[in-house]
Amino acid sequence: MKSIGNIILFITIIVLCVSNTIAQSPKEQNVSYIGPGACEPCHKTQSENFRKNIHFKAYKDIKDDERFVKLINDGKEVYCLRCHVTGYGENGGFVDEETTPELAKVGCESCHGPGNEHAAIKMDEKKLKRGSIQRKPDCGKCHKIHSHDG
Ligand code: HEC
Ligand code: HEC
Ligand code: HEC
Ligand code: HEC
Repeated sequence: MKSIGNIILFITIIVLCVSNTIAQSPKEQNVSYIGPGACEPCHKTQSENFRKNIHFKAYKDIKDDERFVKLINDGKEVYCLRCHVTGYGENGGFVDEETTPELAKVGCESCHGPGNEHAAIKMDEKKLKRGSIQRKPDCGKCHKIHSHDG
């Protein structure tokens, strides 16, 4: 009888631990990408400037690249996407061109981070609510070691 009690106690502890771990990461889960269209109403100047910026054609420029096409045909991870789209592999990030056309570029959130929390500022408030938006981008995450070999 005692050992059954111990087993139940043991299972309860495991369950508590697991649910605790899940409960501890909601911050990450609430953060997501929304695409540059959502920034435009409040950031007109940046939006106009960045449409002319080379980063906005970062995905278009790889589509005909034979290394890109080969990775797709071989069913391998298309690692190019880590640097040539927005939020690849992350919550709400790029999936494919049909599903997430807005993110098929190195857009605002590639540099500034996912914007859903930040964009929830009320238009009449004009107060900076940063959320996971960062002012200074980490250019080095894509430009540091420029290698196309994986
Ligand atoms: C509802 C309006 C609104 C939306 C939508 C919005 N922003 Fe902002 N943003 C602001 C305001 C207000 C500030 C603070 C004042 C300023 O710098 O213009 C700000 C500041 C920023 C800053 C500077 C942060 C700092 O620390 O100085 C960045 C970067 C930024 N926004 C990026 C974005 C991106 C990227 C998007 C789209 C994903 C976005 N914003 C959507 C209103 C908005
Ligand atoms: C998400 C990845 C990513 C981030 C972050 C990023 N870049 Fe880029 N950048 C690229 C890609 C991909 C290209 C190539 C686009 C193309 O040719 O279609 C590029 C092109 C450029 C170019 C033109 C090519 C060259 O080397 O002369 C400059 C300049 C540049 N980036 C500067 C920056 C700066 C400065 C930052 C930070 C403020 C930055 N980038 C952040 C991915 C990134
Ligand atoms: C670690 C980030 C990173 C990865 C991964 C990456 N790129 Fe790039 N790519 C860049 C940056 C940064 C630039 C712009 C600077 C430059 O040209 O050196 C660029 C530029 C380019 C360009 C335009 C310049 C040129 O070389 O003619 C093409 C095309 C390109 N990449 C294709 C690809 C393909 C295809 C893959 C996958 C097989 C890939 N890239 C993987 C970061 C990356
Ligand atoms: C290639 C990286 C890159 C991309 C893409 C990018 N930004 Fe920025 N952004 C920067 C850098 C660098 C700064 C200057 C940060 C500093 O030194 O204060 C900046 C600053 C800002 C600021 C602060 C006010 C200002 O102008 O200095 C806002 C707001 C902003 N960006 C919004 C946007 C929006 C909206 C988009 C998409 C339409 C966008 N950014 C795309 C790199 C980028």
